Amino acid sequence: MKIKNKNVILNEYKKKIKLLKSHNKSYFTDDSPKILDSDYDQLKKQILDLENKYPFILNKYSSINTIVGAPVTNKFEKIKHLKPMLSLSNAFDKNNMIDFIKKINNFLSLSSKNLEIFSEPKIDGISATLIYENGILTRGLSRGDGIFGENILENIKTISSIPKIIKGRNIPKLLEIRCEIYIGKKDFESLKDNFANPRNAAGGSLRQKNSKETAKIPLKYFAYGYGEIKPMIFKKQSEFLKKISEWKFSTNPLVKIVNDINDIENQHKKIDSIRSTLDYDIDGIVYKINDLALQKRLGNTSNSPRWAIAYKFSAEKAVTKIKDIAIQVGRTGAITPVAKVEPVTVGGVVVSNATLHNEDEIERKDIRIGDTIMIQRAGDVIPQVVSVDTSKRDKSSKKYSFPKKCLCGADTKKELSKSTNKQDAVRRCFKGYDCKFTAKEKLKHIVSKEAFNIDGLGKRVIEQFWDLNLIKEPSDIFRLDYNKIKKLEGWGELSISNLKKAIDKSQTISLDKFIFSIGIRHIGQENAKILSSFFGSIKEFTKLFDIKNRKKILVNLVDLDGIGETQVNSINNFFSNITNARIIKDLIVELNIREYAVKNNDGKFSNKKLMFTGGFKNMSRSEAKAIAENNGGKVLGSISKKLDFLVVGDSKPTKKKVEQAKQLNIEIILEKDWNNILNG
Ligand code: IVH
Repeated sequence: MKIKNKNVILNEYKKKIKLLKSHNKSYFTDDSPKILDSDYDQLKKQILDLENKYPFILNKYSSINTIVGAPVTNKFEKIKHLKPMLSLSNAFDKNNMIDFIKKINNFLSLSSKNLEIFSEPKIDGISATLIYENGILTRGLSRGDGIFGENILENIKTISSIPKIIKGRNIPKLLEIRCEIYIGKKDFESLKDNFANPRNAAGGSLRQKNSKETAKIPLKYFAYGYGEIKPMIFKKQSEFLKKISEWKFSTNPLVKIVNDINDIENQHKKIDSIRSTLDYDIDGIVYKINDLALQKRLGNTSNSPRWAIAYKFSAEKAVTKIKDIAIQVGRTGAITPVAKVEPVTVGGVVVSNATLHNEDEIERKDIRIGDTIMIQRAGDVIPQVVSVDTSKRDKSSKKYSFPKKCLCGADTKKELSKSTNKQDAVRRCFKGYDCKFTAKEKLKHIVSKEAFNIDGLGKRVIEQFWDLNLIKEPSDIFRLDYNKIKKLEGWGELSISNLKKAIDKSQTISLDKFIFSIGIRHIGQENAKILSSFFGSIKEFTKLFDIKNRKKILVNLVDLDGIGETQVNSINNFFSNITNARIIKDLIVELNIREYAVKNNDGKFSNKKLMFTGGFKNMSRSEAKAIAENNGGKVLGSISKKLDFLVVGDSKPTKKKVEQAKQLNIEIILEKDWNNILNG
């Protein structure tokens, strides 16, 4: 037998560790595993086997047991972005795009004819932001969590095509360029063994501690937008890109101004058809309102701008067979059927599970165990079953009968929607924390990026700690027995100390994130913000625990813009449940929940409460409300003594509201006064 030399073994070991770390990051940080759990375990075992067989490895490297999850990222200094780096909302078909245009026109009170939309490929790389002061590159940050980025300036400087000094005329004193950094498909060929895809490779290389390592990788970029610019000299997105291209920034050539849905569809098809010939990965087209003044009026929701959308390319497809249908329980108790399929590669990833959405979907498509099906996978979304090939169906196959009980044994139910008066397509378990399957999913939600954002405590670790009875409910996270964890395989001093730090850090949380985290059905991030602005402090929020207070509060909540009957009922149900109440109270004890900071304290309506009635000539009601909120005001939905102003639009105001306001001595702002205030 040939005996391997030491260097060969060390290289083999190094390669496997690198691969493991990249999968850790995909799983723990990006929540987007690239391989099957069993393959991951296999890789880990191979590494441990090497360590056992060749102990000299451990003279050079520390054991795999010290690695768990993605490292807490204290490698780089954290710096607050001048403006948040948001995400984009997605469109998947023509109808989604029609809706996008409709919403924009409604918000701006425009007719669609004159809307100029700028289209750009959506580059599938790593986003970064470049800050130039007086034309000199002074900062380079990664996206981070969108609010704080990591200082990766030295690594960014290794990208030769990024200007370090801008040469040109009229360069703003402060210029922040947003860009997407990528590795060309050809260049990726030589890195294939160490990374799952070009995107991972670009991310890994950008976040090297030693910029000399980054310099070895041929990184490229496309600039697509801006953060802060002072003074602002641009009027259109197209003009901005043209100018920065003159200033020697790399911009994408496949851009086009489009005007209507037909142009949008044509451009989408055209770029999709040449997609595979490009040297960089793109996963869709970003459509942006070209006029920057309109972009400003449209503003952002909590996560994404209203003025842009990513129209994704349709998913890659493959044919396989259903081996079985299993049931999964989500954090809201939703019962999701999952097809266990014969493993098949779709878009470079091996797929063995595909969602079947809900009972109605199975019924409608008459999906059965043993069926030959077409599945599709788009981006990070869970693969879906698209269609069934009934011609290949076995004669003996039987209709699938959907289980009526949850995995916990409780009865499940389809609700009747109050707003549509239709039965929900989704069957649910209503036991909440009393169902251990729902409870585990709620915990995964609590630790997720958008909620408590605990590095190193991802879905996989929650599973592990759940099975070991270390975490059964949220407050357990803050009372972890680290001595027990120390004894577990895969946990070393460093990983435990990192986990501890991440958990300690998460104990201080803003009220809106807390409300979002506790997982009240129908309360997403946006609604959590609305609620936290209403309650202001955790003290006020906890009044919901008391039934009498709750009733009074809920009456007022219906009046909030964005909160409807569905949300109010859901809040009521959530707090009426004794287990929920106890669990949330126990959690609150462990936390330092920050009061909700009013967005703009120096705004024109700072700390004032406004209500709107009637329509406005120059803006939609949504825009008027957004303006009030952006200026520090709170918008209410009903007349009460608390109100400071009733803003009355010229078109069909409700007379009764105006009269009530007058009786309560509430100041009335007429449409012309409103316009004067905004312009003043
Ligand atoms: S515009 C979100 N344009 O996609 C603020 N983004 O999912 C407006 N991206 O963070 C973004 N190509 O990193 C925009 N042509 C393009 C893009 C692009 C890639 C990335 C970017 C952003 C992410 C949002």
